[in-house]
Amino acid sequence: MAMDCRRKMMAFMAAVVILISTPNAASSHDVQGAAAAEEADRIVSLPGQPKVPFRQFSGYVTVHKAAGRALFYWLTEAYSDPSSKPLVVWLNGGPGCSSVAYGASEEIGPFRINKTASGLHLNKFSWNTAANLLFLETPAGVGFSYSNRSSDLLDTGDRRTAEDSLVFLVRWMERFPRYKGREVFLTGESYAGHYVPQLARQIMAHNSKKPKHSTIKLRGIMVGNAVTDNYYDNMGTVMYWWSHAMISDQTYKQLMSTCDFRRQKESNECESLYSYAMDQEFGNIDQYNIYAPPCNSSDGSTAATATRQSIRLPHRPHHNKILRQISGYDPCTERYAETYYNRPDVQRALHANTSKIPYKWTACSGVLNRNWNDTEVSILPIYRKMIAGGLRVWVFSGDVDSVVPVTATRYSLAQLKLRTKIPWYPWYVKKQVGGWTEVYEGLTFATVRGAGHEVPLFKPRAAESPSQSHELSDREREREREREREKLIIQCGDRQNGRFHLSAVSSSH
Ligand SMILES: *[C@@H]1O[C@H](CO)[C@@H](O)[C@H](O)[C@H]1NC(C)=O
Ligand SMILES: *[C@@H]1O[C@H](CO)[C@@H](O)[C@H](O)[C@H]1NC(C)=O
Ligand SMILES: *[C@@H]1O[C@H](CO)[C@@H](O)[C@H](O)[C@H]1NC(C)=O
Ligand SMILES: *[C@@H]1O[C@H](CO)[C@@H](O)[C@H](O)[C@H]1NC(C)=O
Ligand SMILES: *[C@@H]1O[C@H](CO)[C@@H](O)[C@H](O)[C@H]1NC(C)=O
Repeated sequence: MAMDCRRKMMAFMAAVVILISTPNAASSHDVQGAAAAEEADRIVSLPGQPKVPFRQFSGYVTVHKAAGRALFYWLTEAYSDPSSKPLVVWLNGGPGCSSVAYGASEEIGPFRINKTASGLHLNKFSWNTAANLLFLETPAGVGFSYSNRSSDLLDTGDRRTAEDSLVFLVRWMERFPRYKGREVFLTGESYAGHYVPQLARQIMAHNSKKPKHSTIKLRGIMVGNAVTDNYYDNMGTVMYWWSHAMISDQTYKQLMSTCDFRRQKESNECESLYSYAMDQEFGNIDQYNIYAPPCNSSDGSTAATATRQSIRLPHRPHHNKILRQISGYDPCTERYAETYYNRPDVQRALHANTSKIPYKWTACSGVLNRNWNDTEVSILPIYRKMIAGGLRVWVFSGDVDSVVPVTATRYSLAQLKLRTKIPWYPWYVKKQVGGWTEVYEGLTFATVRGAGHEVPLFKPRAAESPSQSHELSDREREREREREREKLIIQCGDRQNGRFHLSAVSSSH
């Protein structure tokens, strides 16, 4: 049976769910004035959409008036009791890739686009069973987000992305006052490993200047297969290739001795070693999931071939063609998205492209990606800041991704030198090891065994207890108790200690 490409990938994926224990009181003062602005953004129904019990909104928020920059968002509220559930902001990476294309339509969102792009069906693992989901296309130039100053597409980088995204969030909450004071989590993957912590830092700076009642109640962040630190990411990536037998001993040694992983732009010698590894040694594999069969793209060529051309390593080899990059998303479903979101009736229903953007909607913007102006060398200093500021930090990693692999993340995180609270332990799904977790002071790291670059998929099922062992030392018993406690947090929420809960569950269906 030909299983569709997306399902193949999904079968490997795991779930991360955020459950918040503190109930939120909806503020009452705001209901009226906002109602009109809000109502204008209300999505009645999308073409081909099944009936759903939750509300959706989408539209633009202007983030820079003089330039004419506006960011597009899509809010899908929680299935039930949205006013008591947190706001989860989801960002995709690239840079230049769309959260509507990936996060909403392939990963955590409530709908999937069907093969003919004529309709939608429900994603039964959508995160909006647990939270209100805000998909933001950022920066301007991504998806429906645009700038009337065309030069903006040529000098945007990390800095503007973070600044504009903060302005967006503040103004968006003016439009949706019932979300003011709501607990907020920022989530994303890949290059959003930059966006998410950078936006968190921006929010912390914003909050420090505001009276308490008008702060953004940021509680934590969660990133997956996240670009974190150029040097350690690059080293860990090459190490992963070698340890997973993707490259020869010789290429490994040469890469290690020739490349200066700290540099933004590598020497030609180093670049040609990378090219040799990818073109001569990797073979036709899906780098985003090295054990999955490559998916076919529209012309019948395999995705891995396309991916190899478009991979964007953290050190950015500029000679590569379309830097679709670290999106890592299933190219088969990307096509459906590009058909669906370019339909005029879909755009009308979404209140999108109201200013007649002079180019088509695409899942990733090559222009932005190629011209990316500034990128922070390391995000680790922001991790320190977030931890010091009491934010919950979750880092997860699908362990068969070779683009931002688990070794890259582990090398990077190790630099934080955090104290271990709960030592490395396996977590289980249906009596199988789903992955491994280590809980540090201020940060939880979790791997998802057999998951590729695109980890998250949601399935609210309780994680299983570890096996009951009898012959335990006191120390082991203590650890066991701590793990149990973490499990409890995962399962039902711990009002004192845990707010941010990870429940990673296999979703093979
Ligand atoms: C961009 O220009 C169009 C056409 O003039 C205008 O309708 C739109 O409001 C402008 N966008 C912003 C954010 O100013
Ligand atoms: C896609 O959805 C539309 C509208 O719901 C439906 O008519 C069509 O049969 C679906 N096509 C496929 C291939 O699922
Ligand atoms: C990939 O394309 C080839 C040639 O077009 C086709 O024979 C094959 O069935 C396709 N495989 C998948 C998984 O769609
Ligand atoms: C916006 O709409 C115009 C037609 O009005 C279309 O040509 C263009 O491709 C659309 N762009 C996007 C980004 O949706
Ligand atoms: C582009 O990058 C430079 C160097 O990092 C920075 O000073 C400048 O502000 C950036 N430009 C924009 C528009 O963010």
